[in-house]
Amino acid sequence: MRIEIYNSSEEASLRALEIFKSSQQEGANVYGMATGSTPERLYELLSQSDIDFSQAVSINLDEYVGLEGENPQSYAYYMHDRLFKNKPFKASFIPNGQAKDIEDELARYDQVIKENPVDLQLLGLGSNGHIGFNEPGSDLEANTSLVNLTQSTIDDNQRFFASKEETPTKAITMGVGAIRKAKKIIIMAFGSQKAQAVRGMIEGPITSDLPASVLQKHPNVYVLLDKEAASLLNR
Ligand code: GLP
Repeated sequence: MRIEIYNSSEEASLRALEIFKSSQQEGANVYGMATGSTPERLYELLSQSDIDFSQAVSINLDEYVGLEGENPQSYAYYMHDRLFKNKPFKASFIPNGQAKDIEDELARYDQVIKENPVDLQLLGLGSNGHIGFNEPGSDLEANTSLVNLTQSTIDDNQRFFASKEETPTKAITMGVGAIRKAKKIIIMAFGSQKAQAVRGMIEGPITSDLPASVLQKHPNVYVLLDKEAASLLNR
């Protein structure tokens, strides 16, 4: 893991932009995309940049189950609003959280990933160490899965919804097994509320209790942190 600690999330986001640009120059064409507040600034920077994704493919990590696509809290809406309306891709894939047959949808998404091996995967980090929506206890070899969100994730996400009742409790997520196959990974974490998970990811044992810890085994991972997220690291 290459661990880079920045004074601010702004600096870390600028570094991520640089990695996107250099990866594209090196031939990356399939980009794994994440949502949440962490990559928002990076998406602004990408939107304002001269990078051209018109011949590239994007594959998103996850989507809530049960929200309408036009719901401003759906990840489909998020991606359109933050990135795709400014930088369209040749093709963009995101799990369909409204699919009638979820099993079919999981198989469809596995096929999408198989046909489009990810060159550069962007990840955020849940405060409980999840990546995508692969919660503690997830199978580290899993393919696309339907997951029940943990209470801590539901609580973390509640700030985006009007009430507890409206906060989704299920999601479809790319599995850890698939995420690990990306050729290159950028994981970003900002703020002191991520410090515990960051320490576990980098210095703890590799365990399904903290799914991001599996990235220790990946040969090409950039961990971009601000000072607060890095504050509990020993080395
Ligand atoms: C959600 C997303 C993750 C994201 C995490 C952290 O659970 N499914 O992909 O990394 O939130 O969100 P934030 O960046 O807002 O802290």
